[in-house]
Amino acid sequence: MSIIKLHDKYFKSYISENEIQQAVQSLVKQVENDCKGETPIFIGILNGCFMFVADFVREYNGDCEVSFVKLASYQGTESTGKIKQLVGVNEDLEGRTVVILEDIIDTGNTLQEIYKIFENKKLKQLKIATLFFKPDVFKKELPIDYIGISIPDKFIVGYGLDFDGIGRNFASIYQLTTKPTMKNIVLFGPPGAGKGTQADSLKEKYSLKHISTGDVFRFNIKNETELGLLAKSYMDQGDLVPDEVTIDMLKAEVERNSDANGFIFDGFPRTESQAAALDTFLEEKGEAISGMVALEVPEDLLVDRLLERGKTSGRSDDQDESKIRNRFNEYNTKTAILKDYYQAQNKYFGVNGVGSIEDITVRLSEVFDKL
Ligand code: IMP
Ligand code: MG
Repeated sequence: MSIIKLHDKYFKSYISENEIQQAVQSLVKQVENDCKGETPIFIGILNGCFMFVADFVREYNGDCEVSFVKLASYQGTESTGKIKQLVGVNEDLEGRTVVILEDIIDTGNTLQEIYKIFENKKLKQLKIATLFFKPDVFKKELPIDYIGISIPDKFIVGYGLDFDGIGRNFASIYQLTTKPTMKNIVLFGPPGAGKGTQADSLKEKYSLKHISTGDVFRFNIKNETELGLLAKSYMDQGDLVPDEVTIDMLKAEVERNSDANGFIFDGFPRTESQAAALDTFLEEKGEAISGMVALEVPEDLLVDRLLERGKTSGRSDDQDESKIRNRFNEYNTKTAILKDYYQAQNKYFGVNGVGSIEDITVRLSEVFDKL
């Protein structure tokens, strides 16, 4: 889960797929109970209702018919108040039980129009079921028979509902939120790409806090913080430090620097579940990862560079080509997973990492400026 951008607006996750399905099931139960021995006609109000109707009728046990009416009233995030009927009902509805399936009832203008449309059709009964309802804005004295979830007066998208045409395809519901203010960047680069050097100049240039997982670990262990001691207890046993401990340490580091313009995360996340935990954590603060920026450098070039470094630095892991190649393999495997994760959110930015330090800083800055 993460903050998403649709057109020029930001939305945060709000109602999960599971909660929606539970609300749908509860509506179905109530309608089933009231329609025993009948063949109701379910009439969906397009466009927004399509997912709701699909899930509703799939849950419904018993004979039923399904039809649609197409009405439109919204532009952007504001109700225009004027309802247009774009597709009408053709069925003969005399003596029938009609259950209207609405995705959302807001001011009630649409509902009023629905009551008008069915007024002269000599129905046996007209029932209204809505998945979402905004009680604070509903202004009409009109009955609503079944309500799934009541929500505050905030614009939502997903599960059929759109914002200016898009967002209908999400399986869960997102709510309008303020623009995130931080620049939070996950910086990636293979061993030898000069990531540390670049992070140092970029954190100055953009007033960001550089969080290097290695440094955070060493700090916590050295200062014998609760989390440091916990991490150490795993390391002493030769075990990997569990994700939760690492994540908690990073969260603490973010909280300690909550006045920062943003963060450069370095060495974290390393797994998809860490990335998801980071998204959830930032989302709770109304913030998000702005992007994953990865330095891309051909491997052979890096091997030469590292072997060269090994000659003078004496670092044993820089002196053996097969050990170096192993580090790349590990890096590539991890990056590929995270690249997919951030690419799915349109947040992956590869940057050519071949050239002088200054050239690469310029290229990285071009990406940082946009985020
Ligand atoms: P009403 O006529 O004001 O009750 O609005 C009903 C219609 O407005 C719904 O069928 C939706 O198409 C649209 N609508 C109302 N609130 C929202 C929202 O929060 N998100 C997306 N569409 C909405
Ligand atoms: Mg609608």
